[in-house]
Amino acid sequence: MSTGETATSAPTTAALAVTDTRTGKAYELPIADGTVRAMDLRQMKDGPEDFGILSYDPAFLNTAACRSAITFIDGDRGILRYRGYPIEQLAEGSTFLETAWLLRHGELPTRSEYEGWVEDITYHTYVHENIKSYLQGFRYDAHPMSMLCSTVAALSSFYPNSKNIHDPEERNLSIIRLIAKVPTLAAFIYRHIKGLPFVYPQNDLSYVENFLSMVARMSEPRYESRPVFTRATEVLFILHADHEQNCSTTAVRTVGSSHADPFSAVAAGIAALYGPLHGGANEAVLRMIEQIGHPKNVPEFIEGVKSGKGGGGQRLMGFGHRVYKSYDPRARIVKQLADDVFKEVGMDKDLEIALELERIALSDDYFTSRKLYPNVDFYTGLIYRSMKFPTDFFTVLFAIARTAGWLAQWEEMLQDKEQKIARPRQIYVGRDERPYKALRNA
Ligand code: CMC
Repeated sequence: MSTGETATSAPTTAALAVTDTRTGKAYELPIADGTVRAMDLRQMKDGPEDFGILSYDPAFLNTAACRSAITFIDGDRGILRYRGYPIEQLAEGSTFLETAWLLRHGELPTRSEYEGWVEDITYHTYVHENIKSYLQGFRYDAHPMSMLCSTVAALSSFYPNSKNIHDPEERNLSIIRLIAKVPTLAAFIYRHIKGLPFVYPQNDLSYVENFLSMVARMSEPRYESRPVFTRATEVLFILHADHEQNCSTTAVRTVGSSHADPFSAVAAGIAALYGPLHGGANEAVLRMIEQIGHPKNVPEFIEGVKSGKGGGGQRLMGFGHRVYKSYDPRARIVKQLADDVFKEVGMDKDLEIALELERIALSDDYFTSRKLYPNVDFYTGLIYRSMKFPTDFFTVLFAIARTAGWLAQWEEMLQDKEQKIARPRQIYVGRDERPYKALRNA
């Protein structure tokens, strides 16, 4: 649809009528899918030399940067769907690999597609032996997310053909390799932190069982994880698999838009996920709970959050979401999962603190008036800790699952004819031109 100055004629389709008060000119900006095109603003100039109006939207609060058919979120109604399927139904009935297929291909796999997919993933779980020496170069106390980010980036050097991103076969192979190898890297990182020998993948186990085996197996010939833990991991992986245009997915799409290989793009996603306002929140929740120490200290902590005294603008971690403003549907599933796990492994003192935090926050006007409710990360850390994962490893678990979503989004971006290299504009607020003064003359 074209746009243009139409001072008098009535709109034929939905349009936004705008008058530029600098010039008195009227414009109609077509509205499609509830959006106006930012580029349509550029025709509005206050003179021939003017560049045209830009839209200013720090942190993309109100900007759609792509069209996507993968994940649907209705933040006001607490709805999350992958390819149209409600998250609750996928968490109940699907496996992580089935969900990963769905995210990428748009449909649930047939039985034979699923078997082929599982086989492809299973047979690409091994990593090059040099990766072991690469990991051994990290200090014993390196953060697992730093290790994961750099090791995934390093994988790009092992698969130079992955740069051929326009070749569907290469793309397919890279996607399989990444989904297959990230759990192996994560498990190797865990073993490195613990000073334990690396455990190789075992191909007769499921995706989740194999990951837990690589993490926990010692001298036994075959590791059997507790069914409640296998189930919890499978469900948490499904819940974390995608979440439309969040910070890390935007990082993957942005880096991918320069046509970098997918290993590099996913490494960028891991870097973004690391931050405590994003995937790092599950780690931050546990640290906050440890800092609170006892349920009786919760009211004082909440007061600290409200007054901003809790040290550098302390937030109630695991609460609030950019998109969900009634509840996070994933949090509901995770809470039920936490109940199942704790029924079997016993109540944890920290769970009592979490329940008290939730109880007090949900009845406090500060949080309810700002629509701050528990998000997916509020309870995930407690589940992961009951599985004996170290706190700084939690975000790695998130990254394993999100790899499936990042890759589906990356491939969708590459196939979208409207996409180009991501390159936002800025409002320059610096100094005007001034003459350089050489240091020697000063
Ligand atoms: N604790 C206390 N106050 C909060 C919190 C919180 N967790 N979150 C937001 N607020 C307040 C904030 O101070 C502001 O108050 P005011 O209007 O008085 O200035 C108001 O609520 C709006 O906050 P905002 O920062 O404009 O909201 P946002 O949409 O930019 O931030 C968020 C979303 C998730 C970054 C934020 O809620 C937060 O920092 N939460 C804690 C970190 C967390 O749990 N992150 C995990 C998100 S879910 C996993 C994922 O997908 O990444």
